[in-house]
Formats: sequence, structure tokens, C-alpha cells
Amino acid sequence: MKTLIRNGTVVSATGRVQADVLIDGETIAAVLAPGSRLLGADLASGVDRVIDATGKYVIPGGIDAHTHMQLPFGGTAASDTFETGTRAAAWGGTTTIIDFAVQSYGQRVFDGLAAWHEKAAGNCAIDYAFHQIIGDLNADSLQAMDGLLAEGVSSFKLFMAYPGVFYSDDAQILKAMQKSAETGLMTMMHAENGPAIDVLVGQLLAEGKTDPYYHGVARAWQLEEEATHRAIMLADLTGAPLYVVHVSAKQAVAQIAAARGTGQNVFGETCPQYLYLSLEENLGAPGFEGAKWVCSTPLRSRAEGHQDHLWQSLRTNDLQLVSTDHCPFCMKGQKDLGLGDFSKIPNGIGSVEHRLDLLYQGVVTGRISLERWVEITSTTPARMFGLYGKKGVIQPGADADIVVYDPDGHTSIGYGTDEFGEPTGRSHHMNMDHSAWEGYEIDGHVDVVLSRGKVVIEGNSYLGAKGDGRFVKRGLSQYLI
Ligand code: URP
Ligand code: ZN
Ligand code: ZN
Ligand code: ZN
Repeated sequence: MKTLIRNGTVVSATGRVQADVLIDGETIAAVLAPGSRLLGADLASGVDRVIDATGKYVIPGGIDAHTHMQLPFGGTAASDTFETGTRAAAWGGTTTIIDFAVQSYGQRVFDGLAAWHEKAAGNCAIDYAFHQIIGDLNADSLQAMDGLLAEGVSSFKLFMAYPGVFYSDDAQILKAMQKSAETGLMTMMHAENGPAIDVLVGQLLAEGKTDPYYHGVARAWQLEEEATHRAIMLADLTGAPLYVVHVSAKQAVAQIAAARGTGQNVFGETCPQYLYLSLEENLGAPGFEGAKWVCSTPLRSRAEGHQDHLWQSLRTNDLQLVSTDHCPFCMKGQKDLGLGDFSKIPNGIGSVEHRLDLLYQGVVTGRISLERWVEITSTTPARMFGLYGKKGVIQPGADADIVVYDPDGHTSIGYGTDEFGEPTGRSHHMNMDHSAWEGYEIDGHVDVVLSRGKVVIEGNSYLGAKGDGRFVKRGLSQYLI
């Protein structure tokens, strides 16, 4: 099967050019100026399908480096399965996810990894890879980490938060970082001071402060800054490459920027929710509605200026990329577990379908360039996590994971209900009974999505199938200094 994407503007992290993209099977065969001939023949000759991209951007498929399909959390599990979540990702122009395999407390690392393969295998619409959560950092786990790279898992996540669940103390973190330095595996850190947060949570609840808003009060920015600093110091001491996940506080960004300024291999990710949403407007919504936006790290105060600072940090490369931390829970039967006690609201927001659209608004408003949009949504995630060459770039030999994006199109995102709760006909494809992004109107539209050469989205149709997506083994990070 040969496909030609004709007359589009091919955008990469380093520039944009008018070009035709020839795809042979699952792979990009050529990127040539429009009208070019190949072996004396018109590019379109012998091609099975031509996609006209006139007036549109042709970009490498999005890579969402932080998702949690089917994650067990707080007595329930994230509502998107690998099937529903990866299909929703495809609708939004994401062609690869890196999900977090979980080693639970008391479980062996490779049993956790095997369980994740079982959940995902044969179910995904797009390609997928795994990071490994180490939830029980003992001698056996440290030994198992030696074998992760051979399994195509080149990064692991530790938690300075959630005591009694995923939490690692400083002694455990130090040992894991020594292993990270030795093996080259990327240490990913959930940087919030969990024991201190738990004290504040207990005090707030005892004062009768039980609304979702207090989730944000308990998880104060000082506790994100402090943990980020501590992680950076331990990484500096051990030589471990460090990637701080879901950064939301401007003070945490400053810690990352300072470490990067010394040449340390420290990186930071933020998420669309921290760029757009806030403690006041969202977590502070009336009644229990704020539960829709309970996630950790929490949404931050707009009055304190975190959102603007995060946008600026994406521009200056103090932060390197944007993932969603997609971890959806329905209001009914899931988020409502925390009615009367914010600490029992499952943590997470669903955005896997909207990342490219939401970030593109940064191009529309002049906060980031078109090239930077491609870089932070695709090329850097590929380099950061050892996928570059195959993913994250449109060039001969790369997987034909490609999005045709229409800058003149329009996308209404949200669950699609009017003020009376009646469906309005527009909807997302994530398995959620609400949207954290209700009412967002997007300049731009994902028109066509190809996953390894197969058209999976075309206009308003899904043309893919469960099981199209394959597990991708990753190598070591290609982003280290
Ligand atoms: O609230 C969040 N972020 N839920 C997912 C788990 C995590 O810590 O990333
Ligand atoms: Zn986390
Ligand atoms: Zn997460
Ligand atoms: Zn369109």
C-alpha cells in the first residue's frame, strides 16, 4: 500500500517546508518538494491513495509520554481502558502513548510489567510503550531494574507523594538513583512532599474543610518546590538523569531551570491542565464540581501567575515537553467517592484526546511557534524517551505516524451538554461522563491521522481497529546533555 500526502506544509521541530510525503507500507519513503519526480516518474504514479493537504500542516503524530489507562487508584480504576483511551488519543492526533506499568506494594517488578502487557496487548488503536512505576523499592526491585532496558522500558517513576501506596523515602530514592546512573535508565519523579501533605490533609478535614478546593490547599506549592529541589539534589549527587513529571508550580520550574543552568541532566514536563486551568476557577467551582479537576500535582492559583509562567517556560525550554497525565475518572461512582472528604476523590484528569488541539492554541495566541508545538508534543517526547528516528519526525525510514492538521478548521471540545444537561451533539471519545475541558473552542482541527501508514482517522470517521497498535521497545534517552 502506497500513500502520498500532497501539497501540505511539513512542520518539524526545526522548520517548515512545502513538501509531499510518500509512504510505502508502514514507513515514510520520501519527503520531496511538490512536483518532484522519483526515478523519472510523477510521485503519484503507482500510489494507491492520495491525501490532499493543501493549506494544512503535516506533522509527526503526537507522542503522549504520560498516560494511565486502567490505573487502579483509590479503590477504583481509571475509566479509560487501553482500547477506549488509545482510540480517543488517535482522534486527537496522538499516535503513540507511553503508559505507566505499575509495580504495586508487595508485587515483583516484572509481575507488574507482565500484568500491564496483558491489559494492553491486542487492545490498542495506536502504538504504545511503557515506563515502570516502582511502588515497592526493595533489594529485589533494584535488581529487577537491571533487566528493564532489555524489555524496552528505559525509564521508571518514583513517588515522593502517596505514603502507604507508591511512596519512596529518601533512602530508597537514593538507591534507585544510583541504579539509574549506573544503567542510564531515566528517573521520573512525582515531586511532592507526601508526608507533609498528609498532615495538612488531616488538619483541613478536622476543621470541616472537605470540599475539592482544599485538595489544592493541602498540596501547597512549597511542597512541590521542596520535593523538586530534593530530587534534583539527590540526582546531582548520584549522577542520575532526572525527569520531573506533571510540574505545576512556577517555583518548581525555577528549581529545574537552576539545575539545567548548571548543566545537570534535569528535565521537566507540564500538562495542559496546568497551562489553562486554575485553583480558583476549577478546583474552587461550586459544590462538588471541583472534583472534576482533582489531580496531583494540583491546579495552581491564577492570581499567583503559575499558568503564564509555565507557558513562558515552554518557550524558553526550562520545561521540555507537554504530556497529559491522562487519568480519567467518572463523576458518578468514582469521583463521588470523595463526597464529604476531598482526600478520597480519585486523582486525575482526562485529556489524551485534546493535547494537540489545546497546545495549538499557544501557536494561535503567539505563545509558542509552530515548530515548538511539534517539538513539545512529538519530537522531544521521542528523544526524551528513546523513540526518536522511528517516531517524532517525518523523514525517510521513520514510522508513518502522521497528522494532517487544518489550521482553518474548528473543534468544539467537551462532553457536549447544554445548560440543562442535555446532549448537544458534540462529544469526546474518552470513556468519561464529563469533560474537564467543557466548552473549550479550538482554532484548528485534526483532519487525518495515519498510524504506521494506516489511515485511522479521516474527517469524522474512525477507520482503525482494536489491536492496530503495537508495543514499542524504547532505547535510552536521546536527550541527555
Ligand atoms: O492526579 C494524577 N496525576 N493522577 C495520576 C497519578 C500520578 O501521580 O501521576
Ligand atoms: Zn504522579
Ligand atoms: Zn501520572
Ligand atoms: Zn478539518
